[in-house]
Amino acid sequence: MTAAGDRAVHFHPASLAARAALVLRDNDTGRLVTASPKLYPHMWSWDAAFISMGLAYLDVRRAVAELDTLLAAQWRDGMIPHIVFTQDTDYFPGPDRWGTDAAPQRPHGVRTSGICQPPVHAIAVRRIVEIARKTSQDDAEVAEAFAERAWSSLYRWHRWIVRHRIPDASGLVAIVHGWESGMDNSPRWDEPYAAVLPGPDLPPYVRLDLLQVDDAGERPSDDEYDRYLWLIEQLRRADYHPDRVVDTSAFLVGDVFVTAVFALACDTLAGLGEELGRNGKEVDDLRAWAARARAAVALSAHPETGMARDRDIRGGRWLSAETIAGFSPLLCGGLPADVESRLMSTLDGPAWSGHPDLLAAVPPSVSPSSPDFDAKRYWRGPQWPVVTWLFGWAFEQRNWPRHASEFRAQGVHLVSDGAFGEYYEPFTGKPLGSTNQSWTAAVVLDWLCGV
Ligand code: SER
Repeated sequence: MTAAGDRAVHFHPASLAARAALVLRDNDTGRLVTASPKLYPHMWSWDAAFISMGLAYLDVRRAVAELDTLLAAQWRDGMIPHIVFTQDTDYFPGPDRWGTDAAPQRPHGVRTSGICQPPVHAIAVRRIVEIARKTSQDDAEVAEAFAERAWSSLYRWHRWIVRHRIPDASGLVAIVHGWESGMDNSPRWDEPYAAVLPGPDLPPYVRLDLLQVDDAGERPSDDEYDRYLWLIEQLRRADYHPDRVVDTSAFLVGDVFVTAVFALACDTLAGLGEELGRNGKEVDDLRAWAARARAAVALSAHPETGMARDRDIRGGRWLSAETIAGFSPLLCGGLPADVESRLMSTLDGPAWSGHPDLLAAVPPSVSPSSPDFDAKRYWRGPQWPVVTWLFGWAFEQRNWPRHASEFRAQGVHLVSDGAFGEYYEPFTGKPLGSTNQSWTAAVVLDWLCGV
């Protein structure tokens, strides 16, 4: 039998969907679905959001339980942490290295990391409700009751972002660690990371992630890891106090992609709130935060090309690496129509999805024409199915059905080898990083069974 991951193999959609369901079942610990079987044996915040959406096709109650697990780990100040730890000890940095037990605002009864990730959760709740409404009355009631009880937690999460993470006049949502962007080693962060100088008192550590991949070249470098770990040291020394970390972290960057996701999520949560009969201040807040975030994304964009830029707040400069995040204005809108259509043509063009050598016409994480491009290293070139899903979903919201269905079809083509790669080499379609990655399985279910 040919192993999954062999590009000679193309699973029929029904078999692909069945295999995706098995991945989610196999990675399910009962309390949570791990992000992947070996490389990521815990719950990650934005992974959990996508995973719950995939679970909704299998069992709405299980989908809701997944987000309940995540929300039970919400910090008392509102932050949703980026990792909720299981008992597994094969991942580094684990809870002892994070040392969040000393933070007064940590949640009780569960151990977590001390940073956050892109706020996609409201989008997942919206999707779960939509999926459930198509299956049965009972499922619809379960999903709506969940949306009702999760709404305030998500509002508090969004309010935490506004209160603690919009520190400068750019209006962009800022991150204090590249891991908060979800795009850990993207060239977006090369300049700000160059200014992060690990101190001589960085406690020693051993990387465990490299034991779980075929080739160390698929993961961030050791030099990058030293900087990642040094930032954790700084956050820990600031007791994870939400304002003190912004004041002290050597890394502080306004992230356009997170800001665009935030705009989308605020509008989505506001819409859900209105549907649930909530009107008034909280819904108004969300609409205002969405408008401000959208304006910040548009303001960051190059006036001709529309490519959005991150802002190195510590370094006081704009960052212009050619990455997928440059297309953030297409997620949330806000550009003048002519600039927006130029940006869409760039996305479709030969430097991006239209590159003639791509196996599947979806955007790589970095343009193959950029000097920063590396076809197999994590966020420096590979295609990420989950990012393709997010853009496709946003295109649907923006009423661009042709683009949405093109991304769906090409996304399915990318993953039709049945390996459920974490990310893919864009020319050969080789799955990289982890296989049987839960969020890849989840977006495949939505692409194939979506309503
Ligand atoms: N993505 C990180 C990792 O690779 C964690 O957030 O471990």
